[in-house]
Amino acid sequence: MRAVLCKAYGDPETLSVEDIPTPQPGPGEVRVSMRAAGVNFPDVLMIRNKYQFRPPLPFSPGYELSGVISALGPDVRDVQIGDPGVTMLRYGAFAEEAIVPADRFWQIPANLDFVTAAAFPLAYGTSYHALKDRGQLQSGETLLVLGAAGGVGLAAVQLGKLMGATVIACASSAEKLAICGQYGADHLVNYEQQNLREAVKGLTQGRGVDVLLDPVGGMYAEPGVRSMASHGRYLVVGFTSGEIPRIPTNLPLLKEASIVGVAWDTYSRRNPSGGRRNIAEMIDWILAGKLEPVVSARYSLADTARALNDVLHRRVQGKSVIVP
Ligand SMILES: NC(=O)c1ccc[n+]([C@@H]2O[C@H](COP(=O)([O-])OP(=O)(O)OC[C@H]3O[C@@H](n4cnc5c(N)ncnc54)[C@H](OP(=O)(O)O)[C@@H]3O)[C@@H](O)[C@H]2O)c1
Repeated sequence: MRAVLCKAYGDPETLSVEDIPTPQPGPGEVRVSMRAAGVNFPDVLMIRNKYQFRPPLPFSPGYELSGVISALGPDVRDVQIGDPGVTMLRYGAFAEEAIVPADRFWQIPANLDFVTAAAFPLAYGTSYHALKDRGQLQSGETLLVLGAAGGVGLAAVQLGKLMGATVIACASSAEKLAICGQYGADHLVNYEQQNLREAVKGLTQGRGVDVLLDPVGGMYAEPGVRSMASHGRYLVVGFTSGEIPRIPTNLPLLKEASIVGVAWDTYSRRNPSGGRRNIAEMIDWILAGKLEPVVSARYSLADTARALNDVLHRRVQGKSVIVP
């Protein structure tokens, strides 16, 4: 089978695409024939050895995929060859076949297309877990999303609207803000051109926002926290800016606000029924036409380096996928 390989840590150009032996599933595992694999910022961090989880070299990157089961491990009974599904496997998705623990293969209905299916488990799963389980976002509240045109960000815009919030989307260009508006954001702020704090103050009549979802970190985090309302929740999701922010702790004290960590994949492993439930709820919304995962670009396996460079250099809107 063909697989993208990371043989030494480095930039996307250092990846190769090679023919390697097709892997065999062990006990409790299934082999999945990949139909589409979502591209995510953590893939870039992993090949550069900057992620919290370090796969042993050589490895195939690729955090999530959709596909059909092509082989069963010796003791696997609850699924069958040909079953369609999705999974988050941290690495290994950018290959024609992948080995997946059977209990982390979430089956999908036959009428859910594979490209859409590959694009939602990590980014939409993260934003849904963040807003629902960690942020306790309520209908009628105001949500501020940083990096709102990225994978996690645009998911938060769409899910925030579905959950009944007023959504303020922040991004770095008019083009990126336009897509946030197209997918439901009520207010748009260009955080590279406008003063974030003043803009939010104006949009909320001085009250501030109830929930702030931050996949970017860096220089926007503190003005974001200063823009929170009393009892606000600051959801720490990621640091695409490359800088982990330092927040003065008098800010949450004064507003009785909370700084809340979000780790969706870890949550889904520690609490399998909670992870499965969130995935199932989003599938229902997708099939009902209420939620539309946004896939703006498709690449072949051979073009994986270009796909990862487009993420690294902020060129992707919503999600992109690899198709074999
Ligand atoms: N905590 C969790 O459970 C969890 C799960 C999945 C992902 N994450 C994290 O969430 C973050 C977003 O992931 P993603 O896949 O949604 O990424 P993405 O699609 O690349 O979006 C990230 C956004 O960050 C903004 N950004 C600001 N400075 C940047 C820089 N120097 N380089 C790149 N982007 C920059 C960009 O928007 P502008 O150009 O508009 O600023 C971009 O749209 C990552 O840090 C990832 O590791 C966390």
